[in-house]
Amino acid sequence: MNVLVFASRKGGSGKSTLAAHLASCANRPGNRALLIDADPQGSLALWHQLRGESAPALRRGTRGMAEALSAAKSEGAEWVFIDTPPNRSSAVADAIRLATLVLIPARPSVFDLDAVRDTIELARELHKPYAVVMNAAPAKRNGTESAIVTDARRVVEKMGAPLWSGQITHRADFALALAVGEGAREFDADSSAATEITQLWSAVNRSVKAINGAHKAAQGTRRMAA
Ligand SMILES: Nc1ncnc2c1ncn2[C@@H]1O[C@H](COP(=O)(O)OP(=O)(O)O)[C@@H](O)[C@H]1O
Ligand SMILES: [Mg+2]
Repeated sequence: MNVLVFASRKGGSGKSTLAAHLASCANRPGNRALLIDADPQGSLALWHQLRGESAPALRRGTRGMAEALSAAKSEGAEWVFIDTPPNRSSAVADAIRLATLVLIPARPSVFDLDAVRDTIELARELHKPYAVVMNAAPAKRNGTESAIVTDARRVVEKMGAPLWSGQITHRADFALALAVGEGAREFDADSSAATEITQLWSAVNRSVKAINGAHKAAQGTRRMAA
């Protein structure tokens, strides 16, 4: 079971947006997922309510998260998506402790980039794999990313932080889909928003596979050493 945690001290960076869109990618028949809305603002819970479907299941609040994850695992869940509040509270740390991978969305702006430092530090302190995702970026022109995004990448790279090579562009489709309880692919499978989310979802799958592979290899080494 893979646990994706969406974290950033900055409100409005796209935690709930990415959590909902990626969760809808994971939500295929026979592929059980669990959503945990650990943010009292309840954006992910609102999306789930608008969706009006029982699957994926949703839990609110931070109490008993570890137990909820154990239960989900024993029920065969493949993915858990945890949306967190925009701060550095114990709730965020509790969620990160349970993460397979922490996704840190950042808009390509000075304030957002400054705020990711804190979240990066927290993931590092807790020894959790993480990656920054450029969100709400200006659209590429003829396949070339905006100078703002290139500059933002430099800042993140200077922090020594892993950064997804793609971008999630600022697109009305991302907001419109959420307003009707859908993900970008459900809303319009042929849209650029759908293409970008699919690319991010593939990158997340690859990262998680690599993390699990490294974890298994380490376990094997420990077993051999024992
Ligand atoms: N890529 C995007 N394109 C268009 N709107 C976006 C995008 N990402 C976020 N938004 C909008 O920005 C606002 C804040 O995003 P949200 O996901 O709620 O941030 P957070 O959960 O980090 O506070 C929302 O209104 C959302 O619809
Ligand atoms: Mg949110």
